[in-house]
Amino acid sequence: MVTLKSSLAFLVLAFALFLCFIMSTGDGSYDYFQFVQQWPPATCSLSRTPCYKPRPPQIFTIHGLWPSNYSNPKRPSNCRGSLFDSRKVYPQLRLNLKISWPNVKSGNDTEFWESEWNKHGRCSEQTLNQMQYFERSDEMWNSYNITEILKKAQIVPNATRTWKYSDILSPIKAATNTTPILRCKPDPAQSKSQPSQPKSPQKPQLLHEVVFCYDYHAKKQIDCNRTGCLNKDISFQ
Ligand SMILES: *[C@@H]1O[C@H](CO)[C@@H](O)[C@H](O)[C@H]1NC(C)=O
Ligand SMILES: *[C@@H]1O[C@H](CO)[C@@H](O)[C@H](O)[C@H]1NC(C)=O
Ligand SMILES: *[C@@H]1O[C@H](CO)[C@@H](O)[C@H](O)[C@H]1NC(C)=O
Ligand SMILES: *[C@@H]1O[C@H](CO)[C@@H](O)[C@H](O)[C@H]1NC(C)=O
Ligand SMILES: *[C@@H]1O[C@H](CO)[C@@H](O)[C@H](O)[C@H]1NC(C)=O
Repeated sequence: MVTLKSSLAFLVLAFALFLCFIMSTGDGSYDYFQFVQQWPPATCSLSRTPCYKPRPPQIFTIHGLWPSNYSNPKRPSNCRGSLFDSRKVYPQLRLNLKISWPNVKSGNDTEFWESEWNKHGRCSEQTLNQMQYFERSDEMWNSYNITEILKKAQIVPNATRTWKYSDILSPIKAATNTTPILRCKPDPAQSKSQPSQPKSPQKPQLLHEVVFCYDYHAKKQIDCNRTGCLNKDISFQ
């Protein structure tokens, strides 16, 4: 009788834990995708360890394709779903991704693809399987050349001048017919060169990433409805 009771209690407990697990991982729970491209020179100057190449690519490259939740910007991540399998990145796709999605920090591209798939891609596996996830990301990268769009608007790397958020937003918005998000980071060089100065609101921030938003099916580009960067000057270098 004692064993029957305790095994029943065990079953109930196991079932409750199982329900918790299902609810906490929540596959399929995302609203839209964020397609994040980074400016490699900024990635490298922000990196704690130096990049493997002294001169990183001077074009925007992929950081990741992130299934996202409108009310919970950090979610979802690290869902259940299959772990990265490098065989799904077939030779031609690999060649493409080596250009569009390089690991500018360590040079090990596979390691970067693996971490992005495991953290983000798995959360939308019901929409894009692993092969489709990487194919679609490469297509998104090819759909608009941000570096070219900015160049045509005379926005080219320059250590001595700054821009406003809207200066950089406008040409991208005009070219894509949708609103992206610009993401900035505090400039590490600035805070080091003037250690004694109090935090000044005039200190520019570094343009690091440009985000495009896509619908649930990752087919249609849509307006992003958040903004990034702080309300101060942006440096692009
Ligand atoms: C987004 O996150 C909120 C809060 O965590 C959650 O309640 C909601 O179900 C999520 N939305 C979707 C579509 O997953
Ligand atoms: C690159 O990363 C992959 C995936 O993490 C790993 O299996 C491989 O050994 C790494 N290659 C090198 C040369 O370090
Ligand atoms: C994007 O534009 C930049 C700047 O004009 C150019 O160097 C680069 O080759 C272009 N990339 C692609 C894939 O067309
Ligand atoms: C950088 O910006 C400064 C100030 O606007 C300008 O005088 C200079 O020509 C620019 N340099 C390059 C390389 O575009
Ligand atoms: C962004 O748009 C979505 C979908 O229309 C909406 O649910 C959400 O509340 C909006 N968020 C903000 C910050 O406007």
